[in-house]
Amino acid sequence: MDNEPLNTAKGPLFGKNVLVGITSSISCYKTCELIRLLIKNGASVKTVVSPATLEFIGEKTLETLSNNKVHYDTFSKSHSTEHINLTDWADIFVIAPITANTISKFASGIADNLITSTFNAYLGLKKPVIIAPAMNTGMLNNIFVQNNVNALKNAGVKIVESETGPLACGTVGKGRMADVEKIYKTILETLCPATVSGKTGAKGRVLLTMGGTREPIDPVRFISNASSGRMGLCLADCAHSMGYDVEIISTVKIENRPYKITIVNSTLDMLDAVEKSFKEADYLIMAAAVADYRVKNPSTAKLSKKNEGETLTLELVQNPDILKNMGQIKKENQKTIGFSLGTENIIETAKAKLQAKNADFIIANEAKVALNTDENEVWIIDKTQNTVHIEKSSKENVAKAILERVL
Ligand code: CTP
Repeated sequence: MDNEPLNTAKGPLFGKNVLVGITSSISCYKTCELIRLLIKNGASVKTVVSPATLEFIGEKTLETLSNNKVHYDTFSKSHSTEHINLTDWADIFVIAPITANTISKFASGIADNLITSTFNAYLGLKKPVIIAPAMNTGMLNNIFVQNNVNALKNAGVKIVESETGPLACGTVGKGRMADVEKIYKTILETLCPATVSGKTGAKGRVLLTMGGTREPIDPVRFISNASSGRMGLCLADCAHSMGYDVEIISTVKIENRPYKITIVNSTLDMLDAVEKSFKEADYLIMAAAVADYRVKNPSTAKLSKKNEGETLTLELVQNPDILKNMGQIKKENQKTIGFSLGTENIIETAKAKLQAKNADFIIANEAKVALNTDENEVWIIDKTQNTVHIEKSSKENVAKAILERVL
C-alpha cells in the first residue's frame, strides 16, 4: 500500500500568480532568467509586453519559458477586456525592465497599450506592483523621470533600484536593470513575507490532515476514496505563507515542503497521529476525507479469488470520529475546523456536523466541484451558523479565503 507523492509544483511561490510585464529595453533578455526562477519556485507566470518589446525578444521564448501565451493585444479576439482578466488573475504585477517612457505613462495614468492599461486597473485595486527600471544614466537622472519614479513610490509601487555598471550605450553608470536575484527576492518578500523573515510560526500552530484514509482489506488491498489532498496542501501552503507553523498528517506523500509531515494510512493511524500533536496545536483543520468504516478483520495474508460464482463479504465496523473526539473531549483552547463534502443539502448537513462535532467552523463543499479538480466552491459556517459563500475559484484562492476567516 504505497503512497504516490502529491503531484504539485514545488517551492515558496507555489499557488502564486505572477504577471511579468516587459518593456523595450535591451536588458529584457535577463527577464527570461527571472521567469525561469519564478517557475522553478512554484509560481505560475504570464507575460504582458509593450508593442516594441518583441523587437528585442522572441515571442516563442517567452511563451515557452512561461508556459503561457504572451499578452500584448488590448483588443484580442478572445478577450476584449484582456487587461481586466490579467488584473484579476495576478497576485503581483512585476514590470522588469521598465523604461523611462512606461514609467512616465504609469505616473500620468496613460493607458495606451496592454501593459499601461493593465497597470491602471491593477494599481486601482491596490494589488502589489514592483518595477525594475533600466535606462541610460542621463535618462535616469532626468528630473521628470525622478519625479515620476517618486510618484509611483508614493502610490505604493515597489522600486528595485537600477545598478551601476556598463550600459548598452557604451558608457558606465547607473541605469542597469537590477540583478534578477534581487528582483526575485523582492517578489518573495512581497508575496511570502513569513518565508523570507523566517518568522513562520509566530502566529500559531496549524495541524492539518489531508488525503483519503486507506482501510486495509489485506496487505495489498484497501478501501479508500477519491480525495487527492490538493485542497489540504493549498491550505498548508497558505497558512505557512501567512506566518503559521504548519504540521501535516497526510495519506498522500508530499515533497519539498518545510513542514513536519507524518504519513499515515488508516483512520486509526491518523487518529493516533492527531492525538499526539493536538495538545501543541492552536488549530486543527481536518481536510482529510476520513473513512467512516474499516474492515473488521483485515487478512494478514493476501486474499485469493474464491471459486467461480462465490461471493466475498467484508464486515465493516465504524471508525472513531477524529474531529468529534478532538472537539468534544480533547479541546482546550484549540479551534477545530472540519470539512463537509456532500452531494445534496450540503449546507444543512454541514450545519448539523458542526454541532455534532463541536467544531468552530465547518467548510461545506460539493463532491462534483471539489473532487479531483483544481477548483472549489465553499460555504464557511461558523459556530453561530453564520454562512459565508466563497465563489468557485482555484483551490489556492479558496484556501486563502478560508484561512482569512478561520485563523
Ligand atoms: N471526520 C473525522 N473522522 C471521521 C469522519 C469524518 O474526523 N471518522 C471529519 C472529516 O475530516 C471532516 C468532517 O469530519 O472534516 C466531516 O466529514 P464527513 O465525512 O463529511 O462527515 P461524516 O461525519 O463522516 O458524515 P457522513 O459521512 O455521514 O456525511
